[in-house]
Order: sequence, then C-alpha cells, then structure tokens
Amino acid sequence: MIKAGLLGLGTVGTGVVRIVEGHQEDLQRKTGSPISIEKILVQDRSKSRAVSIDKDKLTENAWDVIDNPDIQVVIEVMGGIEPAKTYILSALEKGKHIVTANKDLMALHGAEILAKAAANGCDVFYEASVAGGIPIIRTLNEGFSSDRITKIMGIVNGTTNYILTKMSQEGAAYGDVLKEAQALGYAESDPTSDVEGLDAARKMTILATLGFHAEVSLQDVKVKGISAISKEDIQYGKRLGYTVKLLGIAERQDDHISVSVQPTMVKNSHPLASVNGVFNAVYVYGEAVGETMFYGPGAGELPTATSIVADLVAVVRNLKLGVNGRELFTPYKEKKLKSDEQ
Ligand code: NDP
Ligand code: HSE
Repeated sequence: MIKAGLLGLGTVGTGVVRIVEGHQEDLQRKTGSPISIEKILVQDRSKSRAVSIDKDKLTENAWDVIDNPDIQVVIEVMGGIEPAKTYILSALEKGKHIVTANKDLMALHGAEILAKAAANGCDVFYEASVAGGIPIIRTLNEGFSSDRITKIMGIVNGTTNYILTKMSQEGAAYGDVLKEAQALGYAESDPTSDVEGLDAARKMTILATLGFHAEVSLQDVKVKGISAISKEDIQYGKRLGYTVKLLGIAERQDDHISVSVQPTMVKNSHPLASVNGVFNAVYVYGEAVGETMFYGPGAGELPTATSIVADLVAVVRNLKLGVNGRELFTPYKEKKLKSDEQ
C-alpha cells in the first residue's frame, strides 16, 4: 500500500480524492499497489466538503502530514508561496516525494525545490502546474527530448479564456464572467494573477525553462493582462475577422530567449481563435518536428486532478523500481541564456 498525504482539499484536492477513490482498481493495475490518501491538510476542519471524507483524515496541522512516517508522497494543492514552500522543502528533507500543482512556486523557486529533491533522492512532479489536463510538461521533457525547440506559444490560462469567450460570444460583462469563473473553481484564490496575466507568465516561465533547457526568470517575462480589454475592443476585432486571446509566446533566437504574455488579435482562420471557454492550447515548434499543437481543458477539478494523479502514478512506479530522484534531466542547471531585456 502506498500512502499519500494531501495539502489542500479545495477544487483540485477534491478531484484528487475522487480520482484516487474512483479509479482505485485501475490505478492498482497500473502501479501494482493500492494507493490511499491518509491525511489531508485543510484550514478549517469544520467546513462542509464537496466529497465524502472520513473526518479523522482531516487536519489543520501540516506536520501531521509532513512528519507522518507512513506517508511516502505529499501532494501539494493548497497554492501560494508560503507556507507551501516550507512544507514542500521540509517534506523533501524527510525523504517524501512531491506532486504539486503550484506554478507560483515552481516558476519562482523551482531550482531550489528540484535541488533539494535531488539531494534527498526524491521525485518532484508538477504536471498540473501548466495547462491543467494537458500533459504538456511530460511532452516537453520526454516527447521532444530528441528535438531542439524553437518556440512555444499558446493559451495557458483557463479563466481569462473563459472570460474572453463569454464576452465575445454572449456579450457578457467582464465582472460577471469573472465571478462565474471563480464559482466554477477555475480562478486563482486571488484572481488578479489570472486577469493581469501573471498566472500565464508563471506557466510560460516553466514551459520555457523546460523547452529551452535554460534558466528563464519570471522577472524577464513581459506581461499584460486582459483587465483593460473592453467589449468594444472585442467587437472591433470581430468586425475585422479577429478574436482576442491572451497569448503566451516564448521564443529562442541564437543565445537569446524572449517570453511574453499579452492580449493578441488572432485571425479567425487560426486554430487558436477557436479555443474557447476554459480550454487551453499550446503550440510547440521544434527544428526537426516542425509545428505541433496540444489542446485540452486548462483548469477545473477533474482535468487538473488527472494530471496530479498521473504524477502520483509516476512516483509509485519509481518506488516499485527503486529509482526515485534519479532524474538525468535537470533543466534548471543548464547554462543560463540571456533574456530579452526591454
Ligand atoms: P482552493 O482555494 O480551491 O483550495 C485550497 C485548499 O488548500 C483548501 O482546501 C484550503 O483549506 C487549503 N489551504 C490553503 N491554504 C492553507 C493553509 N495555509 N493551511 C492549510 N490549508 C490551506 O485552490 P485550488 O484547488 O483551486 O488550487 C490549488 C492549487 O492548484 C493552486 O496552486 C492552483 O494554482 C493550482 N491549480 C488550480 C487549478 C484549478 O483549476 N483550480 C488548475 C491547475 C492548478 P480550506 O478548504 O479549509 O479552506
Ligand atoms: N487559474 C488557472 C487558470 C488555473 O485559470 O488557468 C489553472 O492553472
């Protein structure tokens, strides 16, 4: 039996519990082990939960998870930088493997976390941190390991794409659709990071780091969000045959990398113009492969939890093989390339 601890039981944590319980037999066939969620950190144990859970499993004390000798894997789905960072580093020091959806943390402190993991022979997987249910991190790390990636471009924030879609197709008011996206569990706890483009910038930082095998700093990403986009801007674009999308673009040019996030008029004939609602799409261009596109739900309970549980399966398979923490691939340690300074 593999025992995991969960830090957080909100939108994503709830999905993780549902998938681990609902797909138990299947997961067991795929890993050779039953998997159980032993303990769950929440802020408020008395709160009613969207999934039926044994109350004894809930704790308001993170150390009940991190110090628990039975727990081998800690799944961090609480969000934010602190205390999540302290909890993850402490869990790694105790030899626990980490699965996280936390792009804020991986974009800013990924190098430190991966170094701590390597020093302690632990896995850190973070597939859910970018593009929810699209396995884009595995795709960059493994699928394109043979190629030299030149450009990564796409829609990587579900909340803003949901807002722009509803404003464009239904003439809905920005504030009303933002509230809807929050109620659906798509938005961050502080939605400013979604609408001002910061969430997309963090995701593009992670993708550029992995895709280009270079240290890319969040501070070097040029960011503009959608809060200033009006219905009139959207209607004007429509009349000209364009759709407004929040696009992230990361490009490699010789020794130079540029990363940006900004609202962009996309020609209606381009497939990105038809990526609607909470869906995300990521184009990856490689010197050998040419153009590829990955599409799927970018946020939400079950799509995001799918990526988390896939990471959990990867940890359990590594445990079976005794190869945890033996990553040959350490993107954050490669030569630092000069970022675009503008
Ligand atoms: P929620 O706000 O829905 O849930 C957060 C959970 O963490 C809650 O259960 C909360 O407890 C608990 N929590 C938060 N802070 C603390 C604390 N200091 N101590 C103890 N418990 C705490 O967040 P989401 O599930 O939406 O997101 C979680 C993570 O996943 C974030 O990093 C987010 O960016 C990422 N993510 C989210 C996606 C989505 O679609 N929502 C998609 C991809 C990634 P309580 O319930 O008691 O309040
Ligand atoms: N708030 C994020 C989004 C969650 O809307 O894309 C998924 O990372």
